[in-house]
Amino acid sequence: MLVFGIETSCDETSVAIYDSNKGIIGSKISSQINIHSKFGGVVPEIASRNHLLKVKPLFDEVIVEAGISHKDLDLIGVTSSPGLIGALFVGLSFAKGLGYSNNIPVIPVNHLTGHILSAEMENEDLFPPYAGLIISGGHTHLYYVDEAYNFELLSKTIDDAVGESFDKVAKMLGFTYPGGPFIEKEALKGNENKVSYPIPMPRSDNFSFSGLKTAVLNSIKQYNKSDVAASFQKTAVDALILKVLRVLKKKNIKNLVIAGGVACNSYLRKRFDYESVKKGINVFFPSSKLCTDNGDMIAFAAYKLYNKRNFLSISGTAYDTDALIDRY
Ligand code: KG4
Ligand code: ZN
Repeated sequence: MLVFGIETSCDETSVAIYDSNKGIIGSKISSQINIHSKFGGVVPEIASRNHLLKVKPLFDEVIVEAGISHKDLDLIGVTSSPGLIGALFVGLSFAKGLGYSNNIPVIPVNHLTGHILSAEMENEDLFPPYAGLIISGGHTHLYYVDEAYNFELLSKTIDDAVGESFDKVAKMLGFTYPGGPFIEKEALKGNENKVSYPIPMPRSDNFSFSGLKTAVLNSIKQYNKSDVAASFQKTAVDALILKVLRVLKKKNIKNLVIAGGVACNSYLRKRFDYESVKKGINVFFPSSKLCTDNGDMIAFAAYKLYNKRNFLSISGTAYDTDALIDRY
């Protein structure tokens, strides 16, 4: 089966072709990071307009890269939620047009589902059930994924997402958006035990990062940049490890997938690997390429979810589908 995937939920236009026998045979991405960074964050209208400019040329390129004709496609997967509404519309409209003209089904894929399932693409021995932790600019959500790919929310942030706290702290330290990679780099030069920030709501299984952000703001003048970055990063990761591993222990879940932009962070990966082994939990991180937004994961998720036959009708649109985990 040949599956075409489109991702346009935020600031990356990305398309891919997944061959169920060979894996990914074509993948293209166009990032808008440079366009938005001067505004300090993603500007929704600018994002939509740029997706519109890019989606067709990228589709043409990926078809050539895969060495197929558009007529060979069997299925389309498109990110249908969550995301910027105008940006989602671009991908959805393209997917519906292509699906209609080729007479093939379109599967609306939840972006978070895509991130979590991407771990299976690179680990052939990974199958549900497992826990899936999404850590990105918009989400800090822990799910239980059962054998039939039904998602149950186990815990989530009650305020900021962890990626958002990296971005805000980076801004306080004078870095541009997205700030996560800058914090990670700056932290390498600092002492993570220099500033002791408290873990927010340590007894709750839900996450909270807004108090940590304020604690950083209040301390920033007294310490150097690297020590603040290292101590903040350590506390944010401590909080995730404490709560996630506690929930998994309570639920007796042995496999954990960690995905989303913040999962690119090498310090976080090392700490989670180390702490999970001690608790007898296997952690699976998709490669960095799959942790940021990409069409590969959407094509792959559509293939995996095909049996549910949750196809998008021609009048179907963003957020109005039963896209698995929208209700959270
Ligand atoms: O999944 P993603 O690309 O987009 C969504 O938010 O859906 O995640 C972006 C987030 C941003 O907050 C960015 O600062 C963070 O992921 N991020 C990182 C790193 N790379 C990206 N955070 C910490 N360390 C990193 N190396
Ligand atoms: Zn994402």
